[in-house]
Amino acid sequence: MRNRNHIINVTALVFIVTVPLYYLLRAIYALPQAASAEAVPIDQMFTGHFIAIAFLFSLIMVFMLYSAFVFRRKPGDDTDGPHIHSNTALEIIWTVVPTFVVLGFGIWGTVTLNDLVSAKENEMTIEVTGQQWSWSFAYPEQEGFSSPTLVLPVDQPVVLKMGSKDVLHSFWVPEFRVKQDLVPGQETTLRITPTEIGDYKVRCAEICGTAHSTMLADVQVVSAAEFDAFVEERTQAPVYAEMTPEERGEMWYTGGEADWASCAGCHSLDGTRLAGPSWLGLYGRTEELEDGTTITADDDYIRKSIFEPNAQIVATYAPAMPAVFVDTFAAKEAEILANEGIEIDIVDDLIAFIQTLEE
Ligand code: CUA
Repeated sequence: MRNRNHIINVTALVFIVTVPLYYLLRAIYALPQAASAEAVPIDQMFTGHFIAIAFLFSLIMVFMLYSAFVFRRKPGDDTDGPHIHSNTALEIIWTVVPTFVVLGFGIWGTVTLNDLVSAKENEMTIEVTGQQWSWSFAYPEQEGFSSPTLVLPVDQPVVLKMGSKDVLHSFWVPEFRVKQDLVPGQETTLRITPTEIGDYKVRCAEICGTAHSTMLADVQVVSAAEFDAFVEERTQAPVYAEMTPEERGEMWYTGGEADWASCAGCHSLDGTRLAGPSWLGLYGRTEELEDGTTITADDDYIRKSIFEPNAQIVATYAPAMPAVFVDTFAAKEAEILANEGIEIDIVDDLIAFIQTLEE
């Protein structure tokens, strides 16, 4: 029977096209390294979708091209083709089967999502704050210190409690797969269990203004021992009198135990462009300002840039820095004077630190 031969041909062709197409899709839409427990079920769903897409594309294209080619008009044949009316069995099949496939994907997605957002045993809470255009991470279970870098112990489930100080942002580490918005006036949560030690980056995944693309923060997944060392370092009460100005400057830069937005959120030390100019080689550098004038980055300029951040904006940057440091620095200096009886100048410390950052 000729029909049977056609069906065998088409079935074989659909299979032959599906397999390479599936691998082509995998190559085109290659996923980054999977570094969290959440990545496993999500990547399985990607695989399921790629198989379905490859199969459906092949099914439609093979049937169409096979029919157009094999049943094309023969030379000299001027007769009409056969008149075909509906095929009830076929129509029921191509309605019912896709309905169940779509429902299946829907149920699979719902079950997976439920699992990803549900509370895990002994999870650790970390508070994430987003603001134009930096991130900060606080560790309420470790005395509440904050850090510009998100440091996570490997294989430890964490729940991120997230909020924004201004507009919508979105927390996204591609290697962890999961993503969640930060909404002003609201707390959102995201659960992650990092499984691979390594360095990653949080990228803001919600357009949030001029410097959105530079709203990045480092993520380090470390061993339990390294995490303990990190916590110990951050929770030790510093004795300011025993530190050099450069050491204090570095501490102010990363936020230290102070509760102001850290410099590190917007100024890199390695030349990377973030929301503000990098501090690498900043001291003594000639900067071009928005109005076309140039200025040398000396003590006066740096002090003014911290206390009146919007007075002199370096060309190509947007005014981003809050003008709060006159007050917060003064309060901190008064606290240190009261506790340790020494007078320090936080800006002088920062300048001393910046002077060590030569290119
Ligand atoms: Cu924050 Cu984009």
